[in-house]
Amino acid sequence: MSGYYEKTCTAPVNIAIIKYWGKRDVSLNLPTNSSLSVTLSQDNLQSKTTIRADPSFSKTRLWLNGIEEDVSANKRMQTCIKEARRLRSLYEQQLLRDGNSDVVPLAEYNLHICSENNFPTAAGLASSASGFACLVYTLAQLYSLPNSTSELSLIARQGSGSACRSLFGGFVAWEMGVNYDGSDSIAVQIADEHHWPELVALICVVSDAKKTVGSTAGMQSTVKTSPLLKERIEQVVPKRMEEMVKAIKNKDFNMFAEITMRDSNQFHAVCLDSFPPIFYLNDISRAIIKLVNEYNAISSDYKAAYTFDAGPNAVIYTLRENVDELAGLVKRYFMGEERGQIPSSFRVDAVPILEKGSVRHIIKTTVGDGPRIIEDGL
Ligand code: PMV
Repeated sequence: MSGYYEKTCTAPVNIAIIKYWGKRDVSLNLPTNSSLSVTLSQDNLQSKTTIRADPSFSKTRLWLNGIEEDVSANKRMQTCIKEARRLRSLYEQQLLRDGNSDVVPLAEYNLHICSENNFPTAAGLASSASGFACLVYTLAQLYSLPNSTSELSLIARQGSGSACRSLFGGFVAWEMGVNYDGSDSIAVQIADEHHWPELVALICVVSDAKKTVGSTAGMQSTVKTSPLLKERIEQVVPKRMEEMVKAIKNKDFNMFAEITMRDSNQFHAVCLDSFPPIFYLNDISRAIIKLVNEYNAISSDYKAAYTFDAGPNAVIYTLRENVDELAGLVKRYFMGEERGQIPSSFRVDAVPILEKGSVRHIIKTTVGDGPRIIEDGL
């Protein structure tokens, strides 16, 4: 047999509005709570992966952003490849049983995998979600897997928990599931990318440094030591998930904004409640929170909602009508620029003006679609 088989796909980044924090099973990446995220447009942020299967390849190799990495050292990546291969073998057996005689034994071929992000690592954004979603989606295309996107999310989840949510566009829930083997811990789409076009995200890059405490280690420590986490996962998140689904379906920005900010706050509270405490926010993050609170205070409706992952960078969700005003405020207070009008009842002195470059740059983006198959390979 000769010739190779190749597919190229892209996948988006997602930012949680109800945070995943805590694993009940580390090797399977099973979470202690359900979570919910917004998939962001691939125009600004996306991973791109080309995978080639060739019977002449002597081993499976991996290049990340142009640099070869040791696949055998990346256990989570190996798990994703192994699982996708297992599904391909099952599919090949099915095809043979159905009388197809020309089934290509792709599951046996070694792979060359090239993956890149269109955003520099310097953007300070985690790329593991888009990266693993892209890997799994590309494998599924290469192998022509008949499985549903939620079934594929089971595999992406094992690469990086939050990656399961990047397999869908729009608004996505990761249902924690109850099964011991994780077979029901899947991502499902709540609404697609066309549902709420007025929603905009402003990513405020505060730092491009790597996380001080990685998410797996941080979660482990929180699960072991934080009494507050128990309250969060048992009492708070289940109710919030229901309310957030309602807020999204009704495009209710007030409800969306309040839950988003409360959930970010509580995630950072369980980090602080871990022992020793974990700090992801810094003084700039706290000043951004202050700015958003002051901005919200000028109106009876919420105008913006901040959220922070395991680092100091802010993502601020707002509505299209407010985005220029809000970006103007961020530029004035954190980037040393005197742009735009200050809204009339805004308490100018309530927020500290930080030095130029406190926010390094802003990425303005919208809700986006899920992974795509493309022609143009790496
Ligand atoms: O998927 P991980 O292991 O990178 O963890 C993600 C954790 C948070 O970003 C803080 C929250 C989330 O739900 O994305």
